[in-house]
Amino acid sequence: MNSFMMTLNRHLVEQERLYPQATGAFTSLLSDIALAAKVISHQVNKAGLLDILGLAGSRNVFGEEQQKLDVFANEAMIRSLRFGGTLCAMVSEEDEELIPIPDEFPRGKYVCCFDPLDGSSNIDVNVSIGTIFSIYRRITPEDAPGKLEDILQPGYSQLCAGYVVYGSSTMLVYTTGAGVHGFTLDPTYGSFVLSHPKIKTPSKGKIYSANESNYDDWEPGVQNYIRWAKKSTSANGGGMNSRYIGSLVADFHRNLLKGGVFLYPGDHTNPQGKLRLLYEANPLAFIVEQAGGKATDGRRRILDIPPDNLHQHTPLILGSKDDVETAMEFIQGKRKS
Ligand code: AHG
Ligand code: MN
Ligand code: MN
Repeated sequence: MNSFMMTLNRHLVEQERLYPQATGAFTSLLSDIALAAKVISHQVNKAGLLDILGLAGSRNVFGEEQQKLDVFANEAMIRSLRFGGTLCAMVSEEDEELIPIPDEFPRGKYVCCFDPLDGSSNIDVNVSIGTIFSIYRRITPEDAPGKLEDILQPGYSQLCAGYVVYGSSTMLVYTTGAGVHGFTLDPTYGSFVLSHPKIKTPSKGKIYSANESNYDDWEPGVQNYIRWAKKSTSANGGGMNSRYIGSLVADFHRNLLKGGVFLYPGDHTNPQGKLRLLYEANPLAFIVEQAGGKATDGRRRILDIPPDNLHQHTPLILGSKDDVETAMEFIQGKRKS
């Protein structure tokens, strides 16, 4: 593959050639997502200069106050994906119900679930945030609007998963099941250029990421793991470093490249944790497995969890294979130190 200026679009066309029956609809869908990412990136990078900081004065399905950029990013994703004729339905963290494709627009054979802006608490303080997306092929007859059954598919059925991290640079990382590929936005040309081909995550890292203010509410197995992880190796501990940004995409991306484990477990107050299966856990689980890592709720593989509602929560432990397996031993009580 000629690597000079391997843009996302060229990469998608090269991948498309691997599937003779491809119609180009998938390439068009990913291009629409990339367009939304550029629009959001542009707004994020100007956030301090425009009246888009702060609260929007509205609340989302979880009763969480929406930031103006949450609403902007949601509109950017919906507008960019609605007209392309590639989708039959969408799901967004910011909308309680399934988002249909209006009858006047062409419908396609895919559905997309997305978290338009991840890490909202970090928007106003100039810390990295992101967008997460997950794509399935519809399973109901193609002449009708998309239905819940098209969305509530297990994570292992995903066709594609990806995220955008709006950080020191804007990067789009995606997989279609043929490896994980990272593209950096070159603002000169407005193109995403291949910068991280075939990403593989280290089998073991030195980083654990968790919000330790929840420690007292965690189950004993999680507490035992974190106590072990931070203890020095000389005291038979994990000798790991703590790194926690509070934006899932940013914490995940760092650990994907450097190695390590991210944990957002359940606790006594929220046994299913805070993160959502459809548009946070599943897409990142697909990516991390494709990069050689692992993703679990502490007991089950994330991608095997049967979804029963659009905004279902799940505990999430994902990252380097060996680190996730060690955490699972503690969580399942097979190990105490
Ligand atoms: P979102 O902004 O889409 O609601 O996601 C926020 C999530 C995730 O990005 C992050 O890992 C987690 O919230 C942080 O939660 P705590 O502040 O409870 O640690
Ligand atoms: Mn999120
Ligand atoms: Mn969000």
